[in-house]
Amino acid sequence: MRTVLICLTILFWTSCYYDSEEELYGSSNCNTNEVTFSSDILKIIDNNCYSCHDSANNFGGVTLEGFEKLKSYVDSGVLLGVVKQESGFSPMPKNAPPLLDCEIEKIEAWINDGAKNN
Ligand code: HEC
Repeated sequence: MRTVLICLTILFWTSCYYDSEEELYGSSNCNTNEVTFSSDILKIIDNNCYSCHDSANNFGGVTLEGFEKLKSYVDSGVLLGVVKQESGFSPMPKNAPPLLDCEIEKIEAWINDGAKNN
């Protein structure tokens, strides 16, 4: 019984701690400085989207493989809309949990920095 109580206390404490940290700092442990296409964005898209959207599997006629192809979805605002699952956009990745907050923040930071092919 005692162990259960201790576990519950720890769980409660850590969840509270996590909440307040999120509120104060946002996802403070997500580093969105110096996000680049080659070291960050490509990996996220490759891991989560290429299974349906590389040049062989262009589901829905959507190919995200190759910078220029991806960039066209960035410029139209559709890429950010689908990964942030905003209303009016098809939520992506399809039939899978949304990208991690940090992954979305990196994509957003990269786009705000001009979506460079860096
Ligand atoms: C399991 C397959 C699958 C995965 C994984 C997937 N998609 Fe899709 N995607 C689709 C299908 C099918 C469509 C077309 C039908 C629709 O819009 O739902 C689509 C459509 C899209 C569109 C076009 C939406 C529009 O309104 O024109 C974009 C952009 C897109 N996906 C981006 C992504 C991104 C970015 C990821 C990764 C984060 C991703 N998709 C992962 C299957 C997938």
